[in-house]
Order: sequence, then C-alpha cells, then structure tokens
Amino acid sequence: MSSIDLLNTTKSAHSPAPVQLRNVVRQFGQQRVIDGLDLDIAPGEFVALLGASGSGKTTLLRSLAGLDSIDSGQLVVPKARAAVFQEPRLMPWKRAWKNVVLGLHIPDARARAVQALTEVGLAHRLEAYPATLSGGEAQRVALARGLVREPKLLLLDEPFAALDALTRIRMHRLIIELWRKHTPAVLLVTHDVDEAILLADRVIVLANGKIADQLTIDLPRARDTGQEGFQAIRARLLGLLGVEVETVAVAESRAPNTSVRRFAHG
Ligand SMILES: Nc1ncnc2c1ncn2[C@@H]1O[C@H](COP(=O)(O)OP(=O)(O)OP(=O)(O)O)[C@@H](O)[C@H]1O
Ligand SMILES: [Mg+2]
Repeated sequence: MSSIDLLNTTKSAHSPAPVQLRNVVRQFGQQRVIDGLDLDIAPGEFVALLGASGSGKTTLLRSLAGLDSIDSGQLVVPKARAAVFQEPRLMPWKRAWKNVVLGLHIPDARARAVQALTEVGLAHRLEAYPATLSGGEAQRVALARGLVREPKLLLLDEPFAALDALTRIRMHRLIIELWRKHTPAVLLVTHDVDEAILLADRVIVLANGKIADQLTIDLPRARDTGQEGFQAIRARLLGLLGVEVETVAVAESRAPNTSVRRFAHG
C-alpha cells in the first residue's frame, strides 16, 4: 500500500519536516530501484544526494516532484515544490518570461516572471526565445521557473552537469544566494563530490535502494575547496562511495575536476 501526502507547510504552526519518507518502494518489473527508503529533510535544509549511475536518484526525485508514483510506503512532500533537471526543458516557441510562468494561472504573471528572471540575473533576456540563450542562461530560466512557484522544496537533478566549469561556479553562488533568500528545503542530485560539499548541509549516499550513508557538512560558509577541513570531508565521502583515495590521487593529477561518475564508472 502506498500513500502520498501533500503537506501545506505554510499553514503549519511548528514547521514539521517538509519531506518525510517511510519505507518507500518503487520498482520497475522485478527491479526494486527504491527499496524501503526512509528520509526526512528539515525546513530550509540543503541536502545533496550522491550515488552510482542507475542507483535510483532520478527515480526518487521524480517521485518527490509528483512526476512518478511509488509502489508502497509513505511519502510526505510540500504542495509547493519545483524541480530543475539537467536539461532546462523550455518550450522553444515561448519567450523566456512565458516559460517562467508556464502553467501558472495568476493575474500578475508577467510581473512575477520579471521578478524571478531578475533574481537569476536575466532581466535583460525577458523576451528571448530559448534557442537564443546560452546553456547557463537557459538553466537560469529553468531556475526562475522553479522560484516563481515559491517552493518549500526545490528538487535539482544534476542541474549544473552540462555547464562549463566557470558557469558552474557562478551557478553555485547563485543557488546559494537564492536558497538563503527564499529558504526552501533543497534536494540536489549530483555526481560531483566537491559540489556536494560546497553547497550542502548534509550529503546522503543512495545505494541498493536505501540511504546507505550520510555525512553532515559543518564547514563554515562561504566554502571553497581549499578551506580547512574540506579535503578530509572529501576523502571520507569518497570512502563512503567506495572510491580508493590512491586512485583519486592518480586520476586527479590528470583531471582536477572530481566527479564520482568518472571514478566509479570509468
Ligand atoms: N520508467 C522506467 N521503467 C523501467 N525502468 C526504469 C524506469 N525509470 C528508471 N528505471 C530504471 O531504474 C534504475 C534507476 O534509474 P535512475 O534514472 O533513477 O538512476 P540514477 O541514479 O538517476 O542514474 P544516473 O546517475 O545515471 O542519472 C535504472 O536501472 C533504470 O533503468
Ligand atoms: Mg539520474
């Protein structure tokens, strides 16, 4: 038996965890991708989700976003939630501002779109069609589309993976700035261990359909990879992911941008 409850967190007096999963199962045929998963995310908490390719991260995110069902267990999520994926998923025939408010039936739609696009630094691209936007700009439009819904839960599935390194750094700063301002709970799927440590309060590792491990990141913000304690957390996290530290050292001398996908899956 399964149940999905939508929590209206704006009405609750004592702010319960906006995300509560109990014994959640999702299977495709005989394959149990999510297998008895328990997870709570606190109001305003930033959680990063790591795990091997095919471990079920997107499956979990889709269930949380309401884009897919679960087979059994309990899943509580806020009604106000938004998801941003690796690709921006914009309607090519609609201008940027119209993409931002797509599906929203509100009288002040344009003003709300302008506000959201301004927040992501795109006030000058309101009328642009998606084909004329850079990858980073398109992803910022997707982020604005999420923000305009004033989510209590923001779901991000590798939203920076397709961006170049510099744009990615800018997006990290932007996401932290927006998170601080709007204070949603965030669940960020990433393959990048450094990204997880730079952004999250807590990193969880998905394996065999469950939360296999987790680590609280108590480094002061703003963070950078050179700060004291960063490398120790990184080594611990790579250990949890089953990556040999020796292997990492060799691989890093060739490619400085650490990615779990690269190490774990060749
Ligand atoms: N609609 C579906 N029908 C059948 N199998 C599916 C479906 N969606 C996902 N799966 C399977 O579930 C497993 C988990 O897929 P999922 O996309 O959640 O992995 P992931 O952790 O997001 O991987 P990646 O890091 O590569 O994005 C995979 O084996 C996938 O083939
Ligand atoms: Mg995925």
